[in-house]
Amino acid sequence: MHPLEQLRDDALREIEAAGEEQELETARVKYLGRSGSVSAWGEQMKTLAKEEKPVVGKLLNEVRNAVTAAIETRAQQFHSQKESGALTKIDISLPGTPHEIGALHPLTQMLERSIQIFRRMGFALADGPDVEKEWYCFDALNTPPEHPARNEQDTFYLPDGRLLRTHTSTVQIHTMQAAPPPIRVIAPGAAYRRDEVDATHSAQFHQIEGLYVDEGVSVADLKGALEFFMHELFGAGTEVEFRPHYFPFTEPSLEVYVKSKALKGGEQWIEVAGSGVVHPAVFEAVNKARGDKAYDPEKWSGYAFGLGMDRLAMILFDIPDIRLFSQNDLRFLRQFA
Ligand code: PHE
Repeated sequence: MHPLEQLRDDALREIEAAGEEQELETARVKYLGRSGSVSAWGEQMKTLAKEEKPVVGKLLNEVRNAVTAAIETRAQQFHSQKESGALTKIDISLPGTPHEIGALHPLTQMLERSIQIFRRMGFALADGPDVEKEWYCFDALNTPPEHPARNEQDTFYLPDGRLLRTHTSTVQIHTMQAAPPPIRVIAPGAAYRRDEVDATHSAQFHQIEGLYVDEGVSVADLKGALEFFMHELFGAGTEVEFRPHYFPFTEPSLEVYVKSKALKGGEQWIEVAGSGVVHPAVFEAVNKARGDKAYDPEKWSGYAFGLGMDRLAMILFDIPDIRLFSQNDLRFLRQFA
């Protein structure tokens, strides 16, 4: 037997006998380490006779490979032993780590209920950007440059002349620009005004815009749809009242009030929406932008509304202060979980 073969057999035996990682490491250093015995044989090769070199060289390679493989196998065994050891320590009869289940924000809940009701009436969802060109927010909606809403005291303007939309009525224009009538959409989203912040005013609030354009749409359709919505949301006994108002983009314009005994302060009328019949000037502005006569005011008519979502949620959930919606106080939010 060649001394190298003896060396290999000793190494393999020691590796097999290693009872823990430290012993295996000791064996590795002993045989493969820089001054290990296999390495020492490498050095010795230089002193061998020319015809011996290939034979011993080949043997040395085989020995090095065998020892290396044996060390790897043993290391793997230690590793899997350790893992299965850890697994047996897990007591599967213990209760697990509870996951906290979140809940939808009250405004989101309100929104989902509202969308569901409008869906049943055949409304599709539409949307538009929060950062808006002035034209979509005002000009296209028949609101002249001198209108107070366009004042810098009331509206957040960006340095480039764009603005944060002051209402979701901008989506009326986007929708009509994108498709010819008939149109039946709702567009929920945020709106922004430079209001003094208090219990009922917030710089950011939420609306659901509605737009229905078809042949022969009238105030009666508008009242029917909104009355149905309020009854679904607040209960069949809810009284709904429409009071004359003014918006540049509707004619006639109506504010929507509700009163319900089921709601806190039951004897009080509360304003929940602006609405009206789409002004022909709005159709004309859309036609001009589209470059066609798709919204011919002689043929088509429509109604629009803007529901105050925060207001509706405050009524429905009896929330006294609009600021609670955005303060992220879990004591508040948990009440709607
Ligand atoms: N945009 C109006 C507002 O924010 C509400 C409204 C929408 C009125 C649609 C009429 C038609 O006050």
